[in-house]
Amino acid sequence: MSNSTIESVLQEQRVFEPSPAFSQAAQIPSMAVYQKLYDEAAADPAAFWAKLAEQELDWFEKWDTVLDWQPPFAKWFVGGKINISYNCLDRHLTTARRNKAALIWEGEPGDSRTLTYAQLHREVCQMANVLKGMGVKKGDRVGLYMPMIPEAAVAMLACARIGAAHTVVFGGFSAEALRDRLNDAEAKVVITADGGFRKDKAMGLKPAVDAALDDNAVPSVTNVLVVQRTQQEIDWTTGRDVWWHEAQPTVSADCPAEPMDSEDLLFILYTSGTTGKPKGVVHTTAGYNLYTHMTFQWTFDIKETDVYWCTADVGWITGHSYIVYGPLSNGATSLMYEGAPRPSNPGCTWDIVEKHGVNIFYTAPTAIRAFMKMGDELPKARDLSSLRLLGTVGEPINPKAWMWYREIIGGNNCPIVDTWWQTETGGFMLTPLPGATPTKPGSATKPFPGILADVVDAEGNPVGTNEGGYLVIKHPWPSMMRTVYGDDDRFRRTYWEHIPPKDGKYLYFAGDGARKDADGYFWVMGRTDDVLNVSGHRLGTMEIESALVSHPSVAEAAVVGRKDELKGEDVYAFVTLEGTYTASDELKAELKQHVVKEIGAIARPGEIQFTDALPKTRSGKIIRRFLRNLASGEEVVGDATTMEDQSVLEKLRQGN
Ligand code: WT7
Repeated sequence: MSNSTIESVLQEQRVFEPSPAFSQAAQIPSMAVYQKLYDEAAADPAAFWAKLAEQELDWFEKWDTVLDWQPPFAKWFVGGKINISYNCLDRHLTTARRNKAALIWEGEPGDSRTLTYAQLHREVCQMANVLKGMGVKKGDRVGLYMPMIPEAAVAMLACARIGAAHTVVFGGFSAEALRDRLNDAEAKVVITADGGFRKDKAMGLKPAVDAALDDNAVPSVTNVLVVQRTQQEIDWTTGRDVWWHEAQPTVSADCPAEPMDSEDLLFILYTSGTTGKPKGVVHTTAGYNLYTHMTFQWTFDIKETDVYWCTADVGWITGHSYIVYGPLSNGATSLMYEGAPRPSNPGCTWDIVEKHGVNIFYTAPTAIRAFMKMGDELPKARDLSSLRLLGTVGEPINPKAWMWYREIIGGNNCPIVDTWWQTETGGFMLTPLPGATPTKPGSATKPFPGILADVVDAEGNPVGTNEGGYLVIKHPWPSMMRTVYGDDDRFRRTYWEHIPPKDGKYLYFAGDGARKDADGYFWVMGRTDDVLNVSGHRLGTMEIESALVSHPSVAEAAVVGRKDELKGEDVYAFVTLEGTYTASDELKAELKQHVVKEIGAIARPGEIQFTDALPKTRSGKIIRRFLRNLASGEEVVGDATTMEDQSVLEKLRQGN
């Protein structure tokens, strides 16, 4: 956050109570009820979760042990047998939900589709049988590289149904990034589409899959299942590639859900950290099912008749937990949109709200700021009166955007839930409960019942009121990541030993800075590590540096975040060149394109600055703090006397 944002957040005094009408109809109707739940859960977290697991989920076999905690490794509901696809589908079929819309889908060119629970169940069973026919078995991994179409959800649920773990790779990642992830997960099958629609264009997906698999670069992959979406011309590898629409009619629509152990692998989702290699975040079955179920139910105060719309992509954790699993486990109607506001229809978001009578709308601060910039006329020209609850996620929301969201989109009548969480946490950790929690613009408010959160210093000691520190979680929770896929040691080091454990007490280190105010409200300030948050997308600076250095012209690269009004942060790269190369605008463009090729368009540097040298300490460490100041055009603060060469800084200031 910029200094001015921090100032405005520190001075933020406004408090918004939920309306009496909202509270009266809400599941958690008051702070007294919240506090009672919170205290009960804090006193005995395992008993709290066990009671809900019993009430809320269907089990094939009950567990023996609620929590087995061998820090930092947790097992929940040990010995239980369950299937999340069963909980999301089958159990609703014997109720009035059978013919209720499970997914409402809006395609970008204007086509739409609704799948009832019965229809979704049928499609999932069919895809599960197609996967089985390809030899996919319980315990195997399946890669997904999909546009935002119903088949993305179908594919996830089909994997879960037969006990194969999915690993979804966001469709905006490059072939190279896809290849690395498929290899790390040793995926057996890839599910993709010919392409998808985005901002008035048909984008190719299958070509990237072909490029990723070229020359047997991912030896584990034996088949590619391709959904037809855009009808683009694509290459075809006979024997490997299979059209979904050709396979679907050949299989049975009967496929019983496989009873899974509570701790069986449900999915791997790769996310950026502080080193060059993305981490495969591991989530398992029962705890993830329970936690996404409860957080969805209470935070969105879901009603049987609600139409709920989360604008995320299924390639991110938000799409996993709050487009697919959380909503469907609750038997809710989840709306899915293929595109984004586009040149030909900047008001499409509000058209969709109006068309489907959306009641709950969940998006990111970067999108809210973009909507703000497009002007009040677009939302004002539509009937948004169906909305009753708004949500935000992805980065700290600036109070100005929060107020605009409340007034212009919510008509001053909808609570806003600012949900703080991470790929690693699986579900909401800090969040208002909308019928109970008074909200403050820019604060994610309080922990969800069962979550013991705090702000501490580097040694793990709690800091004082309004003092900045590290956000930590003090007790395991059901949907916490279990490990880094194939790398327990990295899991331990990154999350549990960053703050040294004391007397066997481990603190989960989130990587975010935060403070707690006098009311116990948390204010998340953003990452404290070398991770950028660009438009709500998480990017490791090291990953982008490695991508740059892999270009023959680049000798050294240092990547920092530069404040950006819309994106929150933008990628700013300082680059030194190999002796035989000279700086030019062409080379700049080429390097930007190189990053797109290596990682994907989301990582494209907004700016590249060529320099003769990077500022370093005497021991050779790049002084990123200076670079961040330089990139943002701020005074370079702090003591520069440790620098090997003072003139480096002076030259950088002058732009070379
Ligand atoms: C990081 C996690 C969880 C879904 C989206 C991103 C930032 C997320 C908030 C919020 C302030 C937030 C944090 C966090 N973040 N939500 N409400 N307020 N910061 O998931 O890619 O795993 O990124 O996003 O910095 O650590 P992710």
